[in-house]
Amino acid sequence: MRVLLIGSGGREHALAASLAADETVDTLICAPGNPGMARLGECVPVNANDPASVASLAVTSAADLVIVGPEAPLVAGVADAVRAKGIPVYGPGREAARIEGSKAFAKEVMAAAGVPTAAARACRNAEEIEAALDEFGSPYVVKDDGLAAGKGVIVTEDREAALAHALECERVVIEEYLDGPEVSLFVVADGTTARPMLPAQDFKRIGEGGTGPNTGGMGAYTPLPWAPDDLVEEIMARVAEPTLAELAGRGTPFIGTLYCGLALTSKGLKVVEFNARFGDPEIQPILALLETPLGGLLHAAATGTLADFGPLWWKEGAAVCVVIANEGYPEKTVAGRPLYGADEAGVLHAGTARDASGQLIATGGRVLDCVGTGASVAQARQEAYVLAEGVKLEGGYFRRDIAANI
Ligand code: AMP
Ligand code: GLY
Repeated sequence: MRVLLIGSGGREHALAASLAADETVDTLICAPGNPGMARLGECVPVNANDPASVASLAVTSAADLVIVGPEAPLVAGVADAVRAKGIPVYGPGREAARIEGSKAFAKEVMAAAGVPTAAARACRNAEEIEAALDEFGSPYVVKDDGLAAGKGVIVTEDREAALAHALECERVVIEEYLDGPEVSLFVVADGTTARPMLPAQDFKRIGEGGTGPNTGGMGAYTPLPWAPDDLVEEIMARVAEPTLAELAGRGTPFIGTLYCGLALTSKGLKVVEFNARFGDPEIQPILALLETPLGGLLHAAATGTLADFGPLWWKEGAAVCVVIANEGYPEKTVAGRPLYGADEAGVLHAGTARDASGQLIATGGRVLDCVGTGASVAQARQEAYVLAEGVKLEGGYFRRDIAANI
């Protein structure tokens, strides 16, 4: 099978590595890809957010399957354009991707499907914002109602800061604060049938101990040794299945990854957010444990045949991912510095490029993902940190407490 993979981050490098290891994938084309992915397949330039360009690349490259990694192309309608050419695509169409693209839409779907989530108010003006802040009280949760790569949300006890952020957003959602640990569960869906992956946890804040601003994610681990045995079953029954059924009932069946971001609160599990793609960096350690050939799995989802595919198989043990970020991330990133130690097994490229001389340089905010595996989370963590210590990047930063004391 010929697979075209859209994207250029650490998530896509991890997907590419798993696809390259699948015997049924004989050709892997990455668009635009990155220097790490170039070792696994051919990289072809494309404007990933332009539906017509991606669809025409899918045709000219004779792809049997197109996998869309990031959210922006999905929300732009890339999957619809590829599907319209008759090519199987793993990733929801524009309408279904609104589950991630609009927080207000996600809340509406959850209300209709009876899915537990934080109470929320979509506010249109300063008066409504102030009323919602006072209704829910501190800590205040203020969300930009659009795609913000996990960075449009602030959680603060400072009412002034909450109000200021809310007033900056074009459309804003204010919600009830959810206590308790967070869990990410990725559900592979073919529109009707769904298969859960292993649950994972990510570390969203830039600073150790969960301090400082939110990022796209500074590390992750899987599985969750502390989670109740029936956690995945409960999330499927109370969250994923009703949501998928609601979307199908609206005539927009969801094909792709329904990313369930949950808080295990003192009042039971509640949805924090949905995304329409694999989480980055959680999918990196998850794929390190996946035994099931990934190309076959995603092809089954893209062609509506997951029911015949059977359950997923996993390696024993655990995996941990530590993200190396550029200096200044997530605010003002200093990019373009030379990067060394990025070609070890287990190191994935998230924001890298080659300069005119061929030297690898660090671009973007998150630069590399160091993935370790082991019999336990503690052992996997040790391996991930050995990789992280081996990377040389001036001003490079990683949290030292990823998956500590699990
Ligand atoms: P989101 O983009 O909705 O995932 O929000 C980003 C992060 O902000 C989440 O992963 C949580 O850590 C935090 N967050 C979002 N909503 C809430 C909430 N209602 N209560 C507590 N924390 C939240
Ligand atoms: N790790 C969080 C996300 O991918 O949105």
